[in-house]
Amino acid sequence: MSRRDEAEALDARDPVASARALFALPEGVLYLDGNSLGPPAAGAASRVEAAVRAEWGEGLVSSWNAAGWWEEPIRLGDRIARLVGAAPGQVAVCDSTSVNLYKVLASALRLAAGRRVVVAERECFPTDRYMLEGLSSVPGALHVRLVGHAPGDLVDGCDESVGAVLVNHVDYRTARRVDLGAVVARAHDVGALVVADVAHSAGAIEVALDDWGVDFAVGCTYKYLNGGPGSPAFVYVASRHLTAATQPLSGWHGHERPFAFTDRYAPAPGIRRFLCGSPPIVAYAALDAALDVWDSVDLRAVVAKGQDLVDLLLDLLDERCPELTVASPRARPERGSHVALRHEGAYDVVRALAARGVLADFREPDVVRVGLAPLYLRFVDVVDAVSVLRDVLDDRPWERAPTGDRATVT
Ligand SMILES: Cc1ncc(COP(=O)(O)O)c(C=O)c1O
Repeated sequence: MSRRDEAEALDARDPVASARALFALPEGVLYLDGNSLGPPAAGAASRVEAAVRAEWGEGLVSSWNAAGWWEEPIRLGDRIARLVGAAPGQVAVCDSTSVNLYKVLASALRLAAGRRVVVAERECFPTDRYMLEGLSSVPGALHVRLVGHAPGDLVDGCDESVGAVLVNHVDYRTARRVDLGAVVARAHDVGALVVADVAHSAGAIEVALDDWGVDFAVGCTYKYLNGGPGSPAFVYVASRHLTAATQPLSGWHGHERPFAFTDRYAPAPGIRRFLCGSPPIVAYAALDAALDVWDSVDLRAVVAKGQDLVDLLLDLLDERCPELTVASPRARPERGSHVALRHEGAYDVVRALAARGVLADFREPDVVRVGLAPLYLRFVDVVDAVSVLRDVLDDRPWERAPTGDRATVT
C-alpha cells in the first residue's frame, strides 16, 4: 500500500472528518497555517451579515439589549471555556491577547502581596516579553527574570521572591509543550501565581486550566479557534481569584454599573471585571459561527487526530526530506500541533510552497513552520504537502532568490 493509500484509509475512519465540510476552504490549497490564522467557518459570512443587516442595521442601538450584545463577551467566553478545561464563568472574550496579558500580569502581581519578580522564558512569544517590558516601565511595577528554554528552566527559576510565572504552553516557534501542571505545582509551592499563554494550544491539544490549577490564562481566537483575522482574544481567571483579583485597565465595560456613570471605578462581579472598553460585536459574529463547529465534534478525538497528523508528517519528513532539521519535539506529550523545520533557505522554501498552493509560514531565523489543524486537515493533505515540499527542495529556490525583499507578514 502506498503512503497515499494508507492516508486515504486513515481519512476514511477519521471520527472528525465531517468537520471539514463546516469550513469555507479555497479549492486547490493545502492549508498548513491554521496555527497562525484559521480559515472561516462556512457559517461565518452569513452570521456576520446578519449581525450587520439585522442586529445593527434594523435594531440599531437597541441591539445592545435586544440582541444580547452586552452579554456576548461572557457568553462566548463560556463557549471557549469548555475547550480549555474551564468551568463556566471564568473566561471572557475581549481585547487582544497582548492587552489581556497586561491585565492578568498586573492582576497577578496585585495578588502577590509585594512580590515584584515575574519569571518568563527568554524565548517566549515576543509580545509576551514586550508586554512585560511595558509593565516594567510603570514605576515600581515589576522585575523580569528571564530563564532559558530547556525543560525545567521555568521551574528552576521559581523562588520565594517570585510573584508570577509567565508560561507559553506551546512554543510558537518549536511547538515544544511545557508541562503546565508541573510549573503550577512548583510556583504554588513558593507562593507564586501562574499566567499561561495558551495561544498555540487552545483548540489543538489538551488544555485543562481548572485541573492544572492555572491562575490566569490568555489566548488567541484567530488560530485553532478560527475566529478570523484580529478576532478578539480570551482571558481566563480562576474562580478562586475572581473576588480579590482586579486589573489596571479599568474601563467602563468592567464596571459594576457602567450606566450609572459614577465618578469612581468599581469592578463588576466575576470575570466581567476583566473587560475594558466597548467590544467588537461584528467580529464576535464570525467567532460565534466558528465556535459552532466545536459543538459537533468530540474534543478528545480532535486532539488525538492532531497528534496523528503530526506523527504522519514526521515519518514522511524522515523518509522524504532528510535534509530538513526537525526542531520540534518528537514525543507526543512534549509537542503541540505544529512542526518547525530548520533550513538555510527557509524563507524561500515557504514562498515556493505558497506558489504551489501549500500555505505554511516562516519564522526567524530559519524556520519553516507547518501547522496541522485537525478540524479540517486530512491525512492525504499531509502526504500531498510533503510531495510538494520534496519538489520545492529539489528545485532549490534559495539559490536564485533575490535577497532583502521579504513580505511584512511572513
Ligand atoms: C503565543 C502568542 N501569544 C500572543 C500572541 C499575540 O496575540 P495578539 O495579537 O492577540 O495580541 C501570539 C500571536 O501569534 C502568540 O503566538
